[in-house]
Amino acid sequence: MNILVVGDVIGQAGVKFIRDKLSGIKKLYGASFCVINGENSANGNGINVESSQGLLLAGADVITLGNHTFDKSDVYKLFDEKLPIVRPANYPPGTAGEGYLIIDTGAVKICVISLLGRVNLNNLDCPFRCAQELILKVKDRCDIILVDFHAEATSEKIAMGYFLDGKATAVWGTHTHVQTADERILPGGSAYITGIGMTGPVNSVIGVKKEIIISKFLTNIHQKFEISDNPINLNGIILTIDDKTHKATAIERISIS
Ligand SMILES: [Fe+2]
Ligand SMILES: [Fe+2]
Repeated sequence: MNILVVGDVIGQAGVKFIRDKLSGIKKLYGASFCVINGENSANGNGINVESSQGLLLAGADVITLGNHTFDKSDVYKLFDEKLPIVRPANYPPGTAGEGYLIIDTGAVKICVISLLGRVNLNNLDCPFRCAQELILKVKDRCDIILVDFHAEATSEKIAMGYFLDGKATAVWGTHTHVQTADERILPGGSAYITGIGMTGPVNSVIGVKKEIIISKFLTNIHQKFEISDNPINLNGIILTIDDKTHKATAIERISIS
């Protein structure tokens, strides 16, 4: 089977792009399962009822989140409704929402895990130990384990890739909004990429109007961020999973305007 994973969707225009184009992209790549990172889908920060509906109705099977999980209060409602949305699993015990989900497609059981890095990000529980414990817990209950590691530092993401190599089917990085060129099957058989990129405006600084960010660097004075209104480009990956062994056989980067 092929699985489509889509990088952080930015704002209403990003959600509209997904609504308009996702089904065609899934068809084009023969993807029968789709994971989308939605942490920036509500005006750049967080997720709300409208943006989650847009992504789910367009064909996302699971939405993953990140450091912006709790930016919009709608997220509590979405968790209460048990929608297929996962927040990083390494938030403290008792936090609203689930850190992983197992989806039974009929043909396979797919576990999707969300984790948040700690380098230059929130000071949560250790994502490495959390991943290890979760995988031990779910491995006999599913065929495929997918990990969205939402982290800033390339080193932390690469280390996670090797740490989970052979244990997870695929590990990919989100949060930095820039696609990296290091997609590969690791020695233990896990598919890996440091950054899948974003589904956001071209000619922006990771989604924000470039003039605002340049001014911030020049003056060191914070200004209100505004999402760029330039055309949207989708970044993501296609994972190919062997139907018998359930191991990843290929990982391909995609970029679609
Ligand atoms: Fe993001
Ligand atoms: Fe993020």
